[in-house]
Amino acid sequence: MASSVKQKTVWYCTNCGNEFPQWMGKCPSCGEWNTLTEHKTVTGSRHQVRRDSVPGEGKRPRRLAEIDSTSDARISLCNGEVDRILGGGIVEGSLVLIGGEPGIGKSTLSLQIPLGCPSLKTLYVTGEESARQVKMRADRLGGDCSNCHIFSETLIENVIVQAREMMPDLMIVDSVQTMFTQTAESTPGSVTQIREVAAILLRFAKETGIPVILIGHITKEGYIAGPKVLEHIVDVVLQFEGDDRGAYRVLRSIKNRFGSTSELAVFEMTGNGLRQVSNPSEMLIPMHEAGLSGTAVAAMLDGTRPFLFEVQALVSSAVYATAQRSATGFDVRRLNMLLAVLERRAGFKLAQKDVFLNIAGGLKVSEPACDLAVISSVLSSNFDFPIPAVTCFAGEIGLSGEIRPVPQLDRRISEAARLGFSRIFVSSFSSMDLTPSGIEVVKVADVPQLVRTLFK
Ligand code: TYD
Ligand code: MG
Repeated sequence: MASSVKQKTVWYCTNCGNEFPQWMGKCPSCGEWNTLTEHKTVTGSRHQVRRDSVPGEGKRPRRLAEIDSTSDARISLCNGEVDRILGGGIVEGSLVLIGGEPGIGKSTLSLQIPLGCPSLKTLYVTGEESARQVKMRADRLGGDCSNCHIFSETLIENVIVQAREMMPDLMIVDSVQTMFTQTAESTPGSVTQIREVAAILLRFAKETGIPVILIGHITKEGYIAGPKVLEHIVDVVLQFEGDDRGAYRVLRSIKNRFGSTSELAVFEMTGNGLRQVSNPSEMLIPMHEAGLSGTAVAAMLDGTRPFLFEVQALVSSAVYATAQRSATGFDVRRLNMLLAVLERRAGFKLAQKDVFLNIAGGLKVSEPACDLAVISSVLSSNFDFPIPAVTCFAGEIGLSGEIRPVPQLDRRISEAARLGFSRIFVSSFSSMDLTPSGIEVVKVADVPQLVRTLFK
């Protein structure tokens, strides 16, 4: 084999992680300038990894009909929210990536899993903290550490040797950026190393059937070569996000070969670890007295579960010549579009106004169904007219100012009714099977009608 090993130079973009055979000033894939860096790879060993990268799957083509399709065996991690987001437990032999900004709580979550699940023999590999530091954290978190084994190591080959000897039920590697392999010739944390380390772990997981949880750091921009290049290698990508000033953390599934990707779990960071918030609505809507202008509650759907949260807006006279628009937890381009709709279709002069938008609880939302709550909060702040605290919204805004229906409206309405809301604004084009008693469903067709109904 050694004779076929050849050195090859490739160029990786440090922004998007794509690979090119030559240097270019601008990355053709993501458009960033000066991000291509040179890497030497050993082609022989790379191919070796590729060829048998999915072992246990049989080395010959097989008839589709012969393949057993009974569902994959899943192992419960004894953490209701994490199990749910994975689609009902972690699948045997799967490689799960948990990405997130430094300090968000990835190590805490991944240590809490074995501590809360002593029935699983777990190998926790730490490349960032010493075994003593992990122990101190474990003491802080509490739980049962009798079946959790700590291994402080950064050379992945050593990790694999130990793991094969120990054959745990679950392996956790914190983090991919600190691990390195001898087969690639670059520094730990570089794109080549990250890819190779992940490929080695994938091979280990598939060969042994042991599920592996891999931690990866993502920078503030949410876009780093590391985890980005891993997305197509791993089976599941979970993103851990939230506002580091706030206590809430959201774990979101962005890729899942064995389940739905629209699932979302909410945690609260407390003095002794992350607490599962199984009913996020109750936490995300501070039930303050009516009388505050600029807040509106949206009825959102995350995957299969409806939940409600608060949108806060502040509209004030522009300080500078160009009005400022800023949004936390919401796409600022979408906010600009909604403001343009208000301006053109409903005649509100917002050009001279600064508009700030915030989604409570450090949540990031992208569902168009929040549009109606967003413009209602902006209008409420603009008029300094509070929206009654028992009112919520579910509707998308179109470019001509029309209010469009949103999917699974019945479930949103039921959740709002359950939480004690007495009025929900929806599109008049919505179709509904039945309306739960105790809640008034107000149908509005466009923005002017919303204004007339809401602020009369
Ligand atoms: P950590 O899990 O180390 O983050 P990551 O691995 O994503 O970098 O979390 C670190 C933060 O969480 C740190 O600022 C301290 C805080 N924290 C708590 O508030 N409570 C706790 O019980 C623990 C263990 C950490
Ligand atoms: Mg960490």
